[in-house]
Amino acid sequence: MTMGIRPTTPSGQNLHRILDGLAAISGISIIFTDMEGNSMAATPPGELAEGAKSSSLPSREVPVLFGEEKVGSISCRGVGEQLDPLLKMAAFCMENAFRLEAELEDLSSEIVRLYQELSLIYSLSHKLGSALDIDTICAQALEEIGSAIEVNSIIILLLDDRSGMLNVQSGIGSAGEAIRGMRFDAGADPFSDILARKKVATVKKLPKELPFLPGSSLCVPLVTDDKNIGILIASDKKSGEGFRSQEIKLMDALSGEIAAAIKKAQLYERIQKLFINTVEALASAIDAKDPYTYGHSRRVAKISAAICEEIGMPREKILPIELAALLHDIGKIGTPEHILQKPGKLKPEEMEIIKEHPLQGAQILSNIEELKEVMEWIKHHHECYDGKGYPDMSMAEEIPLPSRIISIADSFDAMTSDRPYRKGMDPAKVMDIMDDFAGTQYDPGLLQAFKCILRSRGAGFANQDTGPAAGKEATSTQCENQT
Ligand SMILES: [Fe+2]
Repeated sequence: MTMGIRPTTPSGQNLHRILDGLAAISGISIIFTDMEGNSMAATPPGELAEGAKSSSLPSREVPVLFGEEKVGSISCRGVGEQLDPLLKMAAFCMENAFRLEAELEDLSSEIVRLYQELSLIYSLSHKLGSALDIDTICAQALEEIGSAIEVNSIIILLLDDRSGMLNVQSGIGSAGEAIRGMRFDAGADPFSDILARKKVATVKKLPKELPFLPGSSLCVPLVTDDKNIGILIASDKKSGEGFRSQEIKLMDALSGEIAAAIKKAQLYERIQKLFINTVEALASAIDAKDPYTYGHSRRVAKISAAICEEIGMPREKILPIELAALLHDIGKIGTPEHILQKPGKLKPEEMEIIKEHPLQGAQILSNIEELKEVMEWIKHHHECYDGKGYPDMSMAEEIPLPSRIISIADSFDAMTSDRPYRKGMDPAKVMDIMDDFAGTQYDPGLLQAFKCILRSRGAGFANQDTGPAAGKEATSTQCENQT
């Protein structure tokens, strides 16, 4: 119970019960009057309330206190001072009733607060449990905290161990977007102190780049396994008040959940990067079999990803397609180099050997459970929309969408790149050629999407990270075969 805070008056029913009990024990009528002048009276059983008034004796009154504060009085009419001890006892009982009521109220609000806190932690934990993407985790954390604490801004800064900088990862509210991408020295005030203490703190002075009001920010270190991974800052309460102790406790409780989820996502991201780097190394090894195909797989992956984006595919679905594009020619590992590197046109029997590579690629990946889907897309990357491709002569929508996408990217890069027997063709000319095969070799809708990309990004966008295209696969693409 918090002394000094005015307690609530015991409920009318409880007050009546207490007064009735006191009247019954003492055998006299008792009146309680609060500080607003409202009064409530109780009489002993069998006696009328007005009965005591008939006496000529004056009223006796005893104050009722709550801590130091007077909250009312107990009085009796028409009794002598010999009953003062009884009145004092009645006042004492009343004071206890006030105290109990206040304690009950405190306990009730504490239970409600704990319930809300637990609900929030459960909800956040449930949401974060399935998320493996840092942006998603931060967005969900910010949304949940924003619903629990009404502030104008919340941001999450993540610590980069190598640079020692805190990078603004995510934010909502008035400062959210404005400061995205900002970086702060983790070793400078006030962050160094917050990270060292690993405790929630109200901070009076933040870096001037952060548009928060002084003295109104709550800084919550994000700690998991006793290691700092960042800081969450909630700023400017909408009510204009300071942060309450319950809010600080809540932030402290939530910070561990958020930190653990971010850490898990960071690990997942690292493993994913390692996997992609391994796949890229494998793709480079395929390309290295023929010096003219250097960078082909990476460019095909980039073009494929761009087509996926253009048709509105969500990011999580694009990544496996990029992987398939990177590995689309993995089956060429088994193709003799003298065929792959042959400077002239291939003989029909050599072409038949080349045509084995989609199936060989699928065979290589068949034992990797995680790449089952990718394996299927690779198997069909030389199918034609009209059913005249290989290996299965699948047609139109029967061909997996990623395979149809990779087919366009593969052909475009093949024809625009140099070959041992000719220079790479002009992209505009290549598009004219590919247009002639819309609906026969290529999915016409996807081809349109690719043309949109070329118009908006230019033909060289796939070369930006891989350097100028030095060449392209020695195998003939369907489109080129037919030209
Ligand atoms: Fe291929």
